[in-house]
Amino acid sequence: MITSGLMKHRRGKLSFPIIIIIVCVLVFIAMLHAERLSFISSKSIFKFKTCPRKNTKPQSILAGDDKRVEEEYVLNASWIDDRFEFDSKECNVGNGKWVFNHSIKPLYTDTTCPYIDRQFSCVKNGRTDSDYHHWEWQPKDCTLPRFNPELALRKIQGKRLLFVGDSLQRNQWESFVCLVEWIIPEKHKSMKLGPIHSIFNLKEYNASIEFYWAPYIVESNTDINIIGDTRKRIIKVDAIMDRAKNWSGVDIIVFNTYVWWMSGLRIKSLWGSFGNGYEGYEEFDTPIAYKLALKTWANWVDSTINPNKTRVFFTTMSPTHTRSEDWGNKKDTRCFNEREPVKKKKHWGSGSDKRIMSIVAKVVKKMKVPVTFINITQISEYRIDAHSSVYTENGGKLLTEEERVYPQNADCIHWCLPGVPDTWNQIFLAML
Ligand SMILES: *[C@@H]1O[C@H](CO)[C@@H](O)[C@H](O)[C@H]1NC(C)=O
Ligand SMILES: *[C@@H]1O[C@H](CO)[C@@H](O)[C@H](O)[C@H]1NC(C)=O
Ligand SMILES: *[C@@H]1O[C@H](CO)[C@@H](O)[C@H](O)[C@H]1NC(C)=O
Ligand SMILES: *[C@@H]1O[C@H](CO)[C@@H](O)[C@H](O)[C@H]1NC(C)=O
Ligand SMILES: *[C@@H]1O[C@H](CO)[C@@H](O)[C@H](O)[C@H]1NC(C)=O
Ligand SMILES: *[C@@H]1O[C@H](CO)[C@@H](O)[C@H](O)[C@H]1NC(C)=O
Repeated sequence: MITSGLMKHRRGKLSFPIIIIIVCVLVFIAMLHAERLSFISSKSIFKFKTCPRKNTKPQSILAGDDKRVEEEYVLNASWIDDRFEFDSKECNVGNGKWVFNHSIKPLYTDTTCPYIDRQFSCVKNGRTDSDYHHWEWQPKDCTLPRFNPELALRKIQGKRLLFVGDSLQRNQWESFVCLVEWIIPEKHKSMKLGPIHSIFNLKEYNASIEFYWAPYIVESNTDINIIGDTRKRIIKVDAIMDRAKNWSGVDIIVFNTYVWWMSGLRIKSLWGSFGNGYEGYEEFDTPIAYKLALKTWANWVDSTINPNKTRVFFTTMSPTHTRSEDWGNKKDTRCFNEREPVKKKKHWGSGSDKRIMSIVAKVVKKMKVPVTFINITQISEYRIDAHSSVYTENGGKLLTEEERVYPQNADCIHWCLPGVPDTWNQIFLAML
């Protein structure tokens, strides 16, 4: 963590970080004297190690007498506040940019981590370009600490962490497992994969990192035996208990649901008294069906989850990049062969439905139980270069060399691992 605390000053003059460190140390000592040792909770120690850029005073002030300024800083200690650590309320994490840094290495690869699905194992599947591994997200107003596996394990020690949702949630779950698993000795960990519920057990830490397949969160006729024909899919927008009974008692729960709703303009929905087997469905416009389902989820959370025991997170929609026109590529090649993130600020494509985003925001706002957003949409929107693309499988079979030359075979929904979901988890860990 200390290194990450220093890093954000890398663009300043050499003497600048040293002054900040001295100030931090002086203030720390001063506070120790004032507050005694009771002041040191692990949290406050953590704070002192991550001074964000925005709290540093303009360089011009520092041009004068260093010592005087230092004293002034200590006297004016009010600027040392909670913003020392990444705070999602203070800092809009979506406002920032991807910075290329060749010396950044992912913490794992798709060969070192044994838990990555074929769908996300791009390098193993033949992807040879590697620039997409070296981009780092930098929010404008704060510093996002790098993912620290030891810290992550400490935060989930004695706890159950459960990811509930679709294959993108699985993408995020596998990323989280791979980010931490490599520091745990073989005999202290185990993975139990299931078609619905998968559990990664960390015995030494008395913890687990789990995934529960529920692509709409609510129930549907295509949860377990997936129906290929999207027109035959019917969603029980007001039914959740069948799946949700397996989610109680966890300490940290992370939901998502988006991409499965985007299969058409209207959704066949079973709702209230219409329910008469799967025959009695109604067709709703997608946002209406989505809203009904999300309210069902919100009611379940509010009536079941004890916020004193369980923290609830919601990962916002992961953008799909199937229309290359969105980023000015007229060749209609989806995300095929894209090698760089979109540069245009606030780029927002047609694969992220703003109506859905506003429904999620509105429903959550009315809930009793606090729900923290892992708002990944904007940051991921830039990353047209980081999808599985043609380095994936189709119907359980790896694409052949011949199949790989066709852009229409590219998967522009899921993400390579290591890759963008590692940044989602970096944000998640900072808020945990
Ligand atoms: C310290 O606080 C005083 C009074 O609020 C202010 O005038 C002064 O500019 C501050 N100094 C610094 C370095 O922020
Ligand atoms: C997520 O961030 C985007 C912009 O970065 C914003 O438009 C949207 O409202 C946020 N979503 C939620 C649910 O807060
Ligand atoms: C790039 O990453 C390395 C290794 O983490 C770090 O030391 C360096 O300061 C970074 N450079 C920039 C320009 O961000
Ligand atoms: C492990 O965690 C569970 C709760 O998740 C707790 O009931 C149990 O006492 C813990 N066991 C140890 C050995 O810490
Ligand atoms: C869900 O919970 C029930 C008991 O409450 C259990 O029998 C069942 O195996 C669980 N299902 C999954 C997929 O975990
Ligand atoms: C949570 O804790 C607070 C303060 O300890 C208490 O007032 C409240 O009743 C608790 N809520 C629940 C649902 O247990």
